[in-house]
Amino acid sequence: MMSQFPVLTIDGPAGSGKGTIAEQVAKALGWHMLDSGALYRLVAIAAQKKNISFDDDKNLTALAKKLDAVFVPCEIGGIEVRLEDEDVTLAIRTEDCGRMASQVAANKGVRKALLQRQRDYLVSPGLVADGRDMGTVVFPNATAKVFLTASAEERAKRRFNQLNEKGVDVSLAGLIIDIQERDLRDMSRTEAPMVAASDAITIDTSRLSIEAVVEQVLALVAKNQ
Ligand code: C5P
Repeated sequence: MMSQFPVLTIDGPAGSGKGTIAEQVAKALGWHMLDSGALYRLVAIAAQKKNISFDDDKNLTALAKKLDAVFVPCEIGGIEVRLEDEDVTLAIRTEDCGRMASQVAANKGVRKALLQRQRDYLVSPGLVADGRDMGTVVFPNATAKVFLTASAEERAKRRFNQLNEKGVDVSLAGLIIDIQERDLRDMSRTEAPMVAASDAITIDTSRLSIEAVVEQVLALVAKNQ
């Protein structure tokens, strides 16, 4: 059964450009956006705050079920992320938090607890959802599905440049290793592993500009609607 409202899913590994592409495509279409990775990052931070270990299935699942987090659009643009009324916008974007999120995300109970919450983001006039399992698990009947890839080196380089711009001192070699470790964990887990849906269009963004990818994705949505 097709969903009542259109949804575009954008899956792929860290640094493939998902977030940027999802944001620009959502803006062009006037649709809402779901950054599903942020939810896993929030569960990880909440667990750390409450001293819940990442292999404590029961408490982690309970935490994910009652996760008190909101995404608030700012007047000057961008989105503020609040966890139990605390601004965690920057805290959830660190490399450390990404690593913790991928550990938390391997937990079956956590994924189940977040499933309906993610589906609830699909409201009129439509949704662009980015993550790892948007096209396979969360929105299997999506209007259009995209899987973005790029080499680990290219993805690490993008992250390196982003962090450098922010004045954060990191090593490129370290980032490549981090990205490879995270890919491996995300691809090899038994629960909703990162994989392209059989009906997804795969785009390798290694040598493409952001504009070129946005154009391809918009063309796909237009074709499928
Ligand atoms: O996309 P982002 O880097 O914010 O995701 C952080 C982590 O959350 C990923 O490495 C992955 O383990 C997990 N994740 C997931 N399923 C999603 C989105 C993110 O397992 N739909």
